[in-house]
Amino acid sequence: MQHIPYIPTVAPDLAEVRAYFPSFEQQVNNHPIVFFDNPGGTQVPQQVIEATTEYYLYANANTHGAFATSQRTDTIIEEARLAVADLLNCDAHEVIFGANMTTLTFSLSRALGRTLVAGDEIIVTTLDHDANIAPWRAVAEERGLVIRQIDIDPKTCTLDMDALHAAMNDRTKLVAVGYASNAVGTINDVATIVHWAHDVGALCWIDAVQYVPHGPVDVRQLDCDFLAFSAYKVFGPHIGVVYGKQALLEGLRPYKVRPASDATPDKFETGTQPHELFAGLLGAIDYLSLLGNTHAAPTPEAASDYSGRRRALKIAMGSILAYERTLSAYLLTALSLVPNLTLYGLTNPTDMTRRVPTVALTMRDQTPRALAEALAEVGICAWDGNYYAVELMERLGLEATGGALRLGLTHYNTPEEIDRCIAVLSQLSRA
Ligand SMILES: Cc1ncc(COP(=O)(O)O)c(C=O)c1O
Repeated sequence: MQHIPYIPTVAPDLAEVRAYFPSFEQQVNNHPIVFFDNPGGTQVPQQVIEATTEYYLYANANTHGAFATSQRTDTIIEEARLAVADLLNCDAHEVIFGANMTTLTFSLSRALGRTLVAGDEIIVTTLDHDANIAPWRAVAEERGLVIRQIDIDPKTCTLDMDALHAAMNDRTKLVAVGYASNAVGTINDVATIVHWAHDVGALCWIDAVQYVPHGPVDVRQLDCDFLAFSAYKVFGPHIGVVYGKQALLEGLRPYKVRPASDATPDKFETGTQPHELFAGLLGAIDYLSLLGNTHAAPTPEAASDYSGRRRALKIAMGSILAYERTLSAYLLTALSLVPNLTLYGLTNPTDMTRRVPTVALTMRDQTPRALAEALAEVGICAWDGNYYAVELMERLGLEATGGALRLGLTHYNTPEEIDRCIAVLSQLSRA
């Protein structure tokens, strides 16, 4: 295998980072396990495991009771809201929790649908996960709305921004767009999209599930109206989160039971929540804050607007972003040298600022499933298929042939792990 120099710019101390994740100690067929399935869900650090266990030991109860465990539960939920607010730079009551991003989007889209009338338009994109398409299509069907779907340039897997801008008009009421693609890693220029949406009086709903684990997010700076993500893709437990601007949330009428509070955000959190997972979410934020507190800011000016935990989280995510760009460049360069491979999306090393380290590929004469199985044999976890990016896989002509293999890296992955993966793919491509 040709050697590719690995030149990190801002490397977190990988040994130190990896030591927080007990699941890395596993072996598969005598090989250390490699997690390249991160876009489907990340591993959790020790802080998440401990916080969840402690919840069961000392706080396990329903909310708003007069007794100790219930009051501890109330405190944990409040703290989890504050922690997410620090991650996104918003206020705690602008944070809504739910089962996952998909369920929250279906729920909020129904509430938003109540404000729309026949002929109103919603924009969705071919680059998005179906969780940011299907809910809007369902609302459109029920209320006689028009859906406009924005295409991509299939060569780069980037959004057709001219078409997106041209599709906006005074009937546009909502633009649903992803921050980063869960299939090909493209980062969208969401700041510009929000700006354009507001120019025509539309709201902007951002699916940030695949961006939040990879870089700093500031909803105030973005000025987006809603932003959704899943904690289990950000080193936390299986819960979903939506940020919404306070005035908008207050104006919405969600589907809810009568005794539940009419206050925001409670009115959106139907039924009993997974309280132990809020404790776990706090553990994930503790882990990221710790990274931020023990690393220098990659660009100090980027963190200068923040203080306390907000600053630590911005530094952590800034360091992760910088490190992951080097991982993306290393991975893509190495993959480009494997014969018979097709890579999708932005692959040029100069484009690393426009993508996260999520790479889709196919190999001649091999199904994506066969590639995933060969990697699994030596302990490398990677997804094959469409990962619910159905429109994109159809547009790329891959849906009928099993989609693509996805290598989805994050900050705890190493160049050595990439080398192991490349060795397997190189061998298969020669077979
Ligand atoms: C970009 C993107 N959006 C939405 C989702 C759905 O998230 P959840 O599983 O929390 O519903 C995913 C999950 O893979 C995703 O990658």
